[in-house]
Amino acid sequence: MALARRLRLGGGNDLAIDLGTANTLVYVRGHGIAVSEPSVVAQHTESGRVLSVGDEAKRMIGRTPATITASRPLRHGVIADLEVTEEMLRQFIGRVHRGRITHPRVVMCVPSGLTEVELSAVQEACLSAGALEVHLIDEPIAAAVGAGLDISAPTGRMVVDIGGGTSEVATISMGAMVVQRSLRTAGYDFDDALIGWLRRHHGLIVGQPTAEALKVEIGSATPQAPGREGEVRGRDAVSGLPRALRISSEEVREALREAVQMIVDAVRGALEQTPPELAGDIADTGILMAGGSSLLAGFPERLTQETGIPAWLADSPLTCVAEGAGRSLEGLRGLNRKARVSRRYSATSPYRRPTTAADRAAQAGHRE
Ligand SMILES: Nc1ncnc2c1ncn2[C@@H]1O[C@H](COP(=O)(O)OP(=O)(O)OP(=O)(O)O)[C@@H](O)[C@H]1O
Ligand SMILES: [Mg+2]
Repeated sequence: MALARRLRLGGGNDLAIDLGTANTLVYVRGHGIAVSEPSVVAQHTESGRVLSVGDEAKRMIGRTPATITASRPLRHGVIADLEVTEEMLRQFIGRVHRGRITHPRVVMCVPSGLTEVELSAVQEACLSAGALEVHLIDEPIAAAVGAGLDISAPTGRMVVDIGGGTSEVATISMGAMVVQRSLRTAGYDFDDALIGWLRRHHGLIVGQPTAEALKVEIGSATPQAPGREGEVRGRDAVSGLPRALRISSEEVREALREAVQMIVDAVRGALEQTPPELAGDIADTGILMAGGSSLLAGFPERLTQETGIPAWLADSPLTCVAEGAGRSLEGLRGLNRKARVSRRYSATSPYRRPTTAADRAAQAGHRE
């Protein structure tokens, strides 16, 4: 009875969540994106009590005393710490509903390369955070919808989503993925490559936020004219004292070269696997780039050079996955849950099989 009452609360409750390695976005049906914050949690080290999440916690990374830990509960798009992820989601959902106790239906975006166990963890985290029902949508599909592509047509489309922890490459036709590649190399690996480079070539130790800022400021995937310089501050590896260094954009590009090449190779591999008719379509329609790391200067040009196919950036690369998943919420209209579940779970459906709080309760009962 209680479940039915909650369902009757209607569409205003429905959410789409892009739970990313770097950022989590929450889209509220009928309103748009209501939360866009870093996927970071600050906890009391001993008790594990969560002190803050999102922007406030991110500012603490690398700056906490021993009693506080600021960390990211996801690694390469996969939940590494289930309890902390649940708490983070609970707080983000709570911000949307401003303290009202509601149990939303949620569409969660997931990287296409997750295993069944990893997918279950996403569902579990979302249900434990208060969701009544969880539907999963593959990120490349959501990115394509969010960028405004009509993916229902029998036409090949290629999407490349380069985030913080994963890069996803997919060929899509008639609403489904025909070819997909998921690579655990993305923005944080660019940061790691820069950290390693600065230590090896300049004896300078820097943290991830500093490396990320340098990458965003002067990093690139193709030579940029004119070349630029950036300043980076860290600790001298030998003396242990603070030191500043000026570094050129050419050198930063060299530091990122290997990681960028891995993503380019994955795109080429996916194109080689794509059936010829669809590959022909993609040569016409181009490659859509989404995700924060596709904003690395010269990335679309680099993909275009290496594949011979024009690559273009989504209008809003950081939000288009959440926007696309949000648009798919419209498909959740109507409260005949049983009918909807069976209709969604078809070969051409954008959704995977949904999980509900009731399913989980039944499973738990079965285990006992
Ligand atoms: N202008 C920019 N240039 C280069 N990189 C950028 C830029 N803006 C953001 N990024 C990078 O984008 C990444 C975050 O992108 P995004 O929010 O799409 O990731 P995510 O969805 O949280 O991660 P994932 O999908 O891999 O789980 C970070 O690594 C960040 O450094
Ligand atoms: Mg993402």
